[in-house]
Amino acid sequence: MTPRRILDLLRTGQPDETVTIQGWVRTKRELKEFSFVEMNDGSSMAGLQVVVNQAVPDYAELVKKLNTGASAEISGVLVASQGKGQRIELQASTVTVYGEADAETYPLQKKRHSFEFLRSIAHLRARTNTMGAVFRVRNACAAAVHSFFQERGFLWMHTPLITASDAEGAGELFTVTTLDLKKPPLTEAQEIDFSQDFFGKRAYLTVSGQLEAEIMAMAFTNVYTFGPTFRAENSNTSRHLAEFWMIEPEMAFCDLMGNMELAEALLKHIFKHVLETCPEDMEFFNQRIDDSVLATAENIINSEFARITYTEAIALLEKADKAFEYPVSWGLDLQSEHERYLAEDYFKKPTIVTDYPAQIKAFYMRMNEDGKTVRAMDILAPKIGEIVGGSQREERLDFLQRRIQSMDIPEEELWWYLDLRRFGTVPHAGFGLGFERLVQFMTGMGNVRDVIPFPRTPLSADF
Ligand code: 4AD
Ligand code: MG
Repeated sequence: MTPRRILDLLRTGQPDETVTIQGWVRTKRELKEFSFVEMNDGSSMAGLQVVVNQAVPDYAELVKKLNTGASAEISGVLVASQGKGQRIELQASTVTVYGEADAETYPLQKKRHSFEFLRSIAHLRARTNTMGAVFRVRNACAAAVHSFFQERGFLWMHTPLITASDAEGAGELFTVTTLDLKKPPLTEAQEIDFSQDFFGKRAYLTVSGQLEAEIMAMAFTNVYTFGPTFRAENSNTSRHLAEFWMIEPEMAFCDLMGNMELAEALLKHIFKHVLETCPEDMEFFNQRIDDSVLATAENIINSEFARITYTEAIALLEKADKAFEYPVSWGLDLQSEHERYLAEDYFKKPTIVTDYPAQIKAFYMRMNEDGKTVRAMDILAPKIGEIVGGSQREERLDFLQRRIQSMDIPEEELWWYLDLRRFGTVPHAGFGLGFERLVQFMTGMGNVRDVIPFPRTPLSADF
């Protein structure tokens, strides 16, 4: 018999149906005459209650093996359940144990484990309620990203993970090399000679697919990438990963206004989709992780984001009756505490900050008429801070060249990027949405390491 998913049975299973399920034991309760075994296959938060009684062949032996963590296939008949909180249960007729799990040494015991401990057993933590909910919601977020862009005619394109350019110019690159690290070839100046390396020049893991997305937008009008990006940022915070996923749309014939509208519509769409498809998981987060999760989601869907310029934001921060750790003054970048004050305390909703000083932003952002600020936009989320970073791009060749020169970026490396401004340039814009920060925001999870299955952070690349 083709096995059924537990979610499917919980939703549509009817008494008297004969079914087979496969999964892992979550809990076992042995009574005198029979045992209750809760089975979970990851399809839903709730498991299916299975009643195993003495009519099942080898009952006594079998029940000994059905410990928490063991895997099994169970066939039987669905019956209406007397138990609280469940409509149906499975009356087992045959049970096959695939793999036992020793009750003493199985690391996931019935008690509550700290997230820190669970990170140390990332090969097993996906079997917990919280991680199950996180990864189902993460999956729903990813599906919503694609449905949003596909419905709007955006082309999904794949940007390279190995690149020779530092798109953000922030110098947080991981080098990719096949040189002998014990004896690297040296130039006359005693520096490592990357011309002898695999690619004939120094190569890195990408920090962003944006520059390549711009190339494709100049042919397909509206495109997006959704892939992993890498940053050798030595920050041990609850919001930074060395490997994270980013969604980067890029739109030709689009300005900063259109960019902000698209970003807001995307976030609304994702929240709506997750509330519709993962109601039990979202309810769980609201009850167990952060009791503002559902209200926040409703708020995202139903109200407009706040909009403010960087200059106005600085004025607000200077007036705030809050002692900040980092200084606030025009020209300095906003720190996480400032971002959170704006989104969490002041506006109490996602806040789009635009028109940052040129000197704190990347070279590709379009210069404003004031000659001091650029057409940047960051979206700040309560509790997280920056979740989206984007801009209208500098489409004017002379402006771009001047900016590149003033920032001492080697112009010859960007010859192809400049070519886009020589041949059929158009106003265009795009942004990057940090996928893990989005999932964090959605679920209320406190640490970004707990919303990606296998986090990579300084000193940690296990599993
Ligand atoms: O603001 P960032 O650096 O923007 C870019 O990379 C642009 N090229 C995007 C574009 O315009 N196409 O990064 C974008 C977002 C941030 O707002 C944040 O959500 C996330 O990526 N992010 C990180 N997430 C987790 N860990 C890190 N170390 C992150 N760095 C950035
Ligand atoms: Mg940014």
